[in-house]
Amino acid sequence: MPRAAITIRPQMVKDAARFYKILTTGNFRFFPLNISSIEAEKRFLRNNVRNFKEKKTFNFSILLEGEVIGAIGLIPETGRNYNAEVGYFIDRRYHGQGITTEAVRLVEEYALSKLPFINRLQAIMVVENLPSARVVEKAGFKKEGLLHSYLCLEGHFHDVFIYGKIIR
Ligand SMILES: CC(C)(COP(=O)(O)OP(=O)(O)OC[C@H]1O[C@@H](n2cnc3c(N)ncnc32)[C@H](O)[C@@H]1OP(=O)(O)O)[C@@H](O)C(=O)NCCC(=O)NCCS
Repeated sequence: MPRAAITIRPQMVKDAARFYKILTTGNFRFFPLNISSIEAEKRFLRNNVRNFKEKKTFNFSILLEGEVIGAIGLIPETGRNYNAEVGYFIDRRYHGQGITTEAVRLVEEYALSKLPFINRLQAIMVVENLPSARVVEKAGFKKEGLLHSYLCLEGHFHDVFIYGKIIR
């Protein structure tokens, strides 16, 4: 994937219909977001836009040659904002092309140049979510441990791996 083709920018309310489509058709086993409507997604995005302005959370859209194909967020931990969690999803049609790995690299670049308070990036994923683990490994994160029953998805508790990368 040529680097120039992938860009990130802060999410916008106008991305709602694309996200709705991606999330409702993706059948993402370890990322079950039940969005009821495009309107509900717009409300979620308005909140993201406000939080970005207030420097609380940093949710980006991932674009391939200008088209929104996914999302990636940088969420500082409450009370310890020097740790920020990275989370992502991509339109199923574009999986396996290195796009998310490039997006993780781009948010790291953003944190390094614009968010001087962030010292550490981290990511968690259900142990069976091998593509997600592979993304952060390729982006230079280290596997630091296993958290038992850490994540509840649709009423079921899952073990997760935690990965970290110290960026400054
Ligand atoms: C996780 C996700 C974002 C990865 O996106 P992507 O753009 O396909 O990621 P990349 O192409 O950068 O890397 C994926 C890697 O996983 C590997 N992979 C894919 N399926 C795999 C599997 N079943 N077992 C092992 N590795 C697998 C790919 O081969 C690739 O590694 P490689 O470059 O060494 O070959 C995408 O699968 C997704 O949107 N999933 C649904 C949402 C989700 O689970 N988000 C993460 C929540 S923690």
